[in-house]
Amino acid sequence: MRIGLLTGGGDCPGLNAAIRAVVKQGLGEYGHQIIGFRNGWKGVVDGDVVQLDRANIRNILPQGGTMLGTARFHPHSAGGMEQVMATLEAERIEALICIGGDGTLNAAQKVAEEGIKIVAIPKTIDNDVYGTDLSIGYHTAVNIATEAIDRIHTTAESHNRVMVVEVMGRHAGWIASAAGIAGGAEVVLTPEEPFDIEKIVKFLRHRHKAHANFSIIVVAEGAAPAKGSAMDFEVQLGQYGEIIAGAIGERVSKEIQERTGFDTRLTVLGHVQRGGTPTPTDRILGSRFGVAAVDAITQGQTNVMTALRNDEIVLVPLEEIAGKLKTVPDELLRVAKALA
Ligand code: F6P
Repeated sequence: MRIGLLTGGGDCPGLNAAIRAVVKQGLGEYGHQIIGFRNGWKGVVDGDVVQLDRANIRNILPQGGTMLGTARFHPHSAGGMEQVMATLEAERIEALICIGGDGTLNAAQKVAEEGIKIVAIPKTIDNDVYGTDLSIGYHTAVNIATEAIDRIHTTAESHNRVMVVEVMGRHAGWIASAAGIAGGAEVVLTPEEPFDIEKIVKFLRHRHKAHANFSIIVVAEGAAPAKGSAMDFEVQLGQYGEIIAGAIGERVSKEIQERTGFDTRLTVLGHVQRGGTPTPTDRILGSRFGVAAVDAITQGQTNVMTALRNDEIVLVPLEEIAGKLKTVPDELLRVAKALA
């Protein structure tokens, strides 16, 4: 079979492990041909292809990023659907493996509706893809954010400061909750729970008087103040509806400084969370998803997403997950609060 492969949306560590697994399983186990599209859906529209063989994937396992390149590009909204179909036909693609987050998977669902056989693989450091316990990249991002919080902890204590750490997470606070718990943050702010700055200020005053003269506040970039609370405002989005990095962190840190008088500093972790070498967990997850995707196509199971559930790889119908979001469960949010 001729199988197409693309990585779309924001990059993350572990993508190369999945690419490598698709190529190895495809070529070695079944004798398929694997056709890579460069820069996600844009490469499909532009017909930008590379035939993948063992030489292409040598030494990519520990490397961050994606050797295929990626782009934030949605063919259906960019009017490129006809071109997608034309390229897939010209390249005689019999099935397409799409590695991506919500945007890429929504596009995959649209392409599947046009009759193309699709198997999706979930990736995003935000971990908000519905239907899977884990997405590629999340584990590494939590490691990076935790290490950063550990480092910030020591300087916070030395200087008696409030340190605000903004982490990624547009729609869900997975990184904030996990790294907040692992790094021992005093306050964790997530999109799931709109916050009240007055309550935070009260807590900080009490803590700095009674317990310790420093605090760590982890803020997900998509966190927002509660309607009607003291800091009520509309979160500003960029021209494509994207989050403006540092915006909420800056606002929170300024309000804390002004309301408490405590010396406050902001660190925006930004794309550091998406870079560098993947953890073993992400390498293993990417490898398992890659092998499962090729197996699924070979067995005629398509229009599905590979997913991790209870440590088993399963296939979930694409239409069940497209357009949905996996938010942080109450239990994890409660742990983050209980340990503050
Ligand atoms: O990959 C998801 C994500 O990490 C979001 O949390 C963040 O808002 C966004 O990517 C940033 O993307 P870009 O690389 O386009 O700035």
